[in-house]
Amino acid sequence: MPESTAATRLGKNRTGLQMSPHHAEEMLEANELLEESENQVSLRDGEALSATRLEYIAAADPLGSVPAPAILKGAAKSSAKMLTGRRPQVFIDKLAERLAFERGGTRLYDAVCAKAVAQTTESDKVSPEELLEIRDSEARHALLIKECLETLGADPTAQTPCADLVGVETMGFIQAASDPRTTLAQTLHAALAAELIDNEGWEGLIVMARQMGHKDMADLFQDALEEEAEHLMKVRNWYTLLNRESSELM
Ligand SMILES: [Fe+2]
Repeated sequence: MPESTAATRLGKNRTGLQMSPHHAEEMLEANELLEESENQVSLRDGEALSATRLEYIAAADPLGSVPAPAILKGAAKSSAKMLTGRRPQVFIDKLAERLAFERGGTRLYDAVCAKAVAQTTESDKVSPEELLEIRDSEARHALLIKECLETLGADPTAQTPCADLVGVETMGFIQAASDPRTTLAQTLHAALAAELIDNEGWEGLIVMARQMGHKDMADLFQDALEEEAEHLMKVRNWYTLLNRESSELM
């Protein structure tokens, strides 16, 4: 059975309410009891959970901090470019975010490439060579950002708050793509979501680079954005094609 067909085969899925009408009825009765109890209404509405969340938010520290660039510590080389703007650390944080995302994107495509090699029936429609090109392009983008951070006297190995954030946000993409049970189409769904975020990320970074007076960087980021737009188009086309073929299979 082709992977695309196996992925949506009919089987003994017992997760839905319809599998056990008797238990479903009991559960819905319990729901009614909760609704009748005034004390429990807040639980049903999630108000108690919200209240607990508010307590934790009030007591929480920020995700982390942005280390001061060497240039601000007075240890920069003469070639290092001065950071302009009132709060240049915001730019450094967003650069570190892009670096984390592109590094993660490289790992994501490592997993997509492996899936394309493993699932030959599906990958006939998907070019492994082009997938590898996208992987290498993500790695080049990570390197570009690393060099930009170094030019600014910043430490590209530092985990800044936004770098931390995207690391956590995109964890699911890599988990989904690395899961041996997911098909190539399912893996491409994760890649498609990542590419949508990636394109948005570069657009924002270009605007910020111009605002901070780094036109040369903004131009390089514009080139990266054009490559990202191409990634998005290819992944979207492959994903659409595999899904269409899967729905047409008998
Ligand atoms: Fe990309």
